[in-house]
Amino acid sequence: MAVTERDPHTGYLTTGHEWNGIKELNTPVPRAVYFFLIATALFSLVYWVLMPAWPLGVSYTKGLLGIDQRTTVDKALKRAALDRESWTKRIEAESYQAIQADPALMPIVRQTGRSLFGDNCAACHGLSAKGGKGFPNLTTASWLWGGDPETIAETIRVGINSSHPDTRVAQMLAFGCDQILPRADVENVVSYVQSLSDAAAAKQIPATKLEAGQKLFAANCASCHGDDGKGKAELGAPDLTDHNWIYGGDPQSIFTTVWRGRQGHMPTWENRLGSLERKILALYLVDLRSRNP
Ligand code: HEC
Ligand code: HEC
Repeated sequence: MAVTERDPHTGYLTTGHEWNGIKELNTPVPRAVYFFLIATALFSLVYWVLMPAWPLGVSYTKGLLGIDQRTTVDKALKRAALDRESWTKRIEAESYQAIQADPALMPIVRQTGRSLFGDNCAACHGLSAKGGKGFPNLTTASWLWGGDPETIAETIRVGINSSHPDTRVAQMLAFGCDQILPRADVENVVSYVQSLSDAAAAKQIPATKLEAGQKLFAANCASCHGDDGKGKAELGAPDLTDHNWIYGGDPQSIFTTVWRGRQGHMPTWENRLGSLERKILALYLVDLRSRNP
């Protein structure tokens, strides 16, 4: 039994134990691992003394530092509320114009407005507020009811054709279905409406048709859409001379609109969003519009 025997293959010393001719190599656990074990054991001892650690039935060892996650969270929440209050108070109190001119508040409006819009409005108006068939694009210069922030906030508050007692009411009459105009007249006025925004199409339409359409428009439509067809914000009647169509500007869509009528529904948000949120949304939409040439 030679304790100092060295294994020729691995270069390790042997322990001197030998079973059936197989010798055991002396390969101790590396020092680094011992050191690590001792260090972590010491760390846990120190941690038990300083921090909350051991359960004691209904209580626990509180630790010398007195750290408690519950108070930490409480403090963080209070701090967040204070931070929030500093700007919510200002947005509540200041005028739309003052907020719009404030470079510190507008980034908050954009950020908060974007998430409010995504949560509440995007389902109908789209995430980018560009609308879709039946839902108006809110990023253009043409507004049904007016595009200043006060008016937009009011639209959001009461809705359009909604259940709110002060709701805005918009109704495009069903000239065909309700037999206000015969089919030939509807076709003529549709051609005229198409010519208002589509110069190329206007050239293809016979002059007699346009003339007849113009007369019909003056008699039946101008009261709401204006003599020039540019719409009336106090009635929510859209501008028919631009390219912003809610229901489509091709002859078939215009025909359907005039024949069957239209009545879009925009919900009231008075009970679903606070006045602060509605104010932020109105500012958000005006800002979106100004950055959407
Ligand atoms: C259920 C679908 C729906 C939802 C949700 C909705 N809207 Fe609307 N919104 C409409 C429709 C439809 C109209 C157009 C009504 C019309 O054609 O007369 C409209 C019109 C508007 C208008 C008037 C635009 C103008 O030109 O005057 C504003 C402003 C508006 N929405 C903002 C919002 C905001 C902000 C939200 C979220 C808080 C929202 N909408 C959520 C359907 C919706
Ligand atoms: C009582 C008022 C009123 C009268 C009269 C009226 N309209 Fe309208 N019209 C509206 C309103 C309000 C809307 C928007 C409806 C909505 O979106 O809910 C509208 C929408 C339209 C649209 C859809 C525009 C789009 O963006 O898709 C067309 C087209 C239109 N009207 C054409 C006519 C024509 C043509 C006549 C006459 C034959 C006429 N309107 C008469 C109030 C009126």
